[in-house]
Amino acid sequence: MSDTGGLEQEHDWLDVGDVSDVVRRKKFVVGEEESAIVVVAHEGCVYAMDNVCIHKGRELGRGVVLRDRLVCPGHQWSFQLGTGWEAVKERCQPTYAVRVTDDGRVEVDLASRTVVFPDAVASDTDVMS
Ligand code: FES
Repeated sequence: MSDTGGLEQEHDWLDVGDVSDVVRRKKFVVGEEESAIVVVAHEGCVYAMDNVCIHKGRELGRGVVLRDRLVCPGHQWSFQLGTGWEAVKERCQPTYAVRVTDDGRVEVDLASRTVVFPDAVASDTDVMS
């Protein structure tokens, strides 16, 4: 038995498709209504975030990917694919962990829903600059 200091995280992996199919589709929605998640394959990575925009509830699955951002069709807030961060509004769209299994399935961890706070984004930017 290992001591994890109580930091063990529960996972709830949802299979969203074969990796080749996910890459081919590029952007699609799984689930329904408020709990729907948009999955995006972009430049060799797969991302997942809430499909319902935090601003006024438009569907991000109907948006477009520009560079590393998913742009909402409602009012063009643009969310960073990895963190969900919207730099102009300083707000965050919830994101999910994604993995590819050994047999080539893409899975989204429904238990990993995460919102990044401004200080965390600033720290990441500092490290990268
Ligand atoms: S509803 Fe998404 S930016 Fe307004």
